[in-house]
Amino acid sequence: LPRPVQASLSKRPEYIPSRIDDPNYVRIFDTTLRDGEQSPGATMTSAEKLVVARQLARLGVDIIEAGFPASSPDDLDAVRSIAIEVGNTPVGEEGHIPVICGLSRCNKRDIDAAWEAVRHARRPRIHTFIATSEIHMQHKLRKTPEQVVAIAREMVAYARSLGCPDVEFSPEDAGRSNREFLYHILGEVIKAGATTLNIPDTVGYTLPYEFGGLIADIKANTPGIENAIISTHCQNDLGLSTANTLAGAHAGARQLEVTINGIGERAGNASLEEVQEHSGLHVQPHKAIVGANAFAHESGIHQDGMLKYKGTYEIISPDDIGLTRANEFGIVLGKLSGRHAVRSKLVELGYEINDQEFEDFFKRYKEVAEKKKRVTDEDIEALLSDEIFQP
Ligand code: KIV
Repeated sequence: LPRPVQASLSKRPEYIPSRIDDPNYVRIFDTTLRDGEQSPGATMTSAEKLVVARQLARLGVDIIEAGFPASSPDDLDAVRSIAIEVGNTPVGEEGHIPVICGLSRCNKRDIDAAWEAVRHARRPRIHTFIATSEIHMQHKLRKTPEQVVAIAREMVAYARSLGCPDVEFSPEDAGRSNREFLYHILGEVIKAGATTLNIPDTVGYTLPYEFGGLIADIKANTPGIENAIISTHCQNDLGLSTANTLAGAHAGARQLEVTINGIGERAGNASLEEVQEHSGLHVQPHKAIVGANAFAHESGIHQDGMLKYKGTYEIISPDDIGLTRANEFGIVLGKLSGRHAVRSKLVELGYEINDQEFEDFFKRYKEVAEKKKRVTDEDIEALLSDEIFQP
């Protein structure tokens, strides 16, 4: 890993305008390297985190939450390396440079560590959080609501006082927090300098209409909200994280927190989709967008449609997301495949047989396909080598 470049630290780099300056722009905040890494078994080395961060920047992610620097010296180093390299390197035609963010609890030690790690980036952000639900304040923090408000206010102001231009605040377990209390604490942290208010459904407990309602209510009732961006952070405990995130965006949230393939604590987060290599968690074949079957077609009716016009059964092209598939139409042969697809496979393999021969072949094909999950090119070759097709 590259070591911190001391020479670059003396002065904060000059601010350059960005699309995230537009309050109506919907920002993508990726937390694969922080919440995603909290997935059981998904820890990454610093080198792997750097590779993933580079890829996230190339994908055009607006904010990369690179880690939780106070959690270990290694994580602080990883976040700092990402801030130094990815946080200063323009990518793509637009010369996009993502914001690099580090998580901290609401205490000075965590905030110092986060700032030490992210301050090297051109656009650094500290994300600080404290729980606001009755159940968390009473049993986990053992603090009164008034104490929680005071800590939040003081720590947001402290993060700003270090020189951090961009501070995100999360009332943890917002999904189960009292609404009036939320409006109050959010209003206070805005006054203290918070720029983004992230609303976590920490235990994935809300339903889309409830989460959308929560965002709408926060927008309508929080004093000073026009000076901040509202964000969503939805866990997937009831399988609703993506639906809740979309409901939040519909209700006015302008930052959406997601992870690659939806990895994260317990059942994960809302999904940004893409790559599995470094997380070590394998993607299920039928996963939307990135699963091996997302652009594969097995049934005869669908294969016939695809061979005629791809728009019949595909709403986006695999090329748009950089996926290459084994054959142009995503045809997978099996017991449900029809004549059109089987014939096109023969042509692809370089065989031309007449109509009568094809009917014989297709009958034998069906007998084999009945017994197998998939019919491979080798199965087709073996069938064709039967004496019936030999001169
Ligand atoms: O789920 C959660 O509440 C979090 C916060 C720290 C944003 O991850």
